[in-house]
Amino acid sequence: METDFTQHSANTEKPCVLVCQHKSCLAAGSAEVLAAFEEADLSEFSVIGTTCQGQCSSGPTVRIVPEETWYCRVKPQDVPVIVEQHLQGGKLVRAKLHPRIHMSFGY
Ligand code: FES
Repeated sequence: METDFTQHSANTEKPCVLVCQHKSCLAAGSAEVLAAFEEADLSEFSVIGTTCQGQCSSGPTVRIVPEETWYCRVKPQDVPVIVEQHLQGGKLVRAKLHPRIHMSFGY
């Protein structure tokens, strides 16, 4: 039986950490990434496994909503950095930002 991941939790007041659990991301280790976020101290966020987020070639994809921050090629060892620096500290983890979504022109 296939797991039915919701696209986005509309019934939560909290911001969400969406971790893609679809084919390409799963093949790249997104189940471990989701587990790492679930184990983190993130009471201010909902952590949700989702279906495809449309960025399959650069997964595992992690999307923070409603702010719309997209991280790509996230590995389990990146999760503590994202949690501490961004989700708890309010500072983006630039090295993991999706370059097509968060374009930087160097000025
Ligand atoms: S499979 Fe994860 S973004 Fe498409």
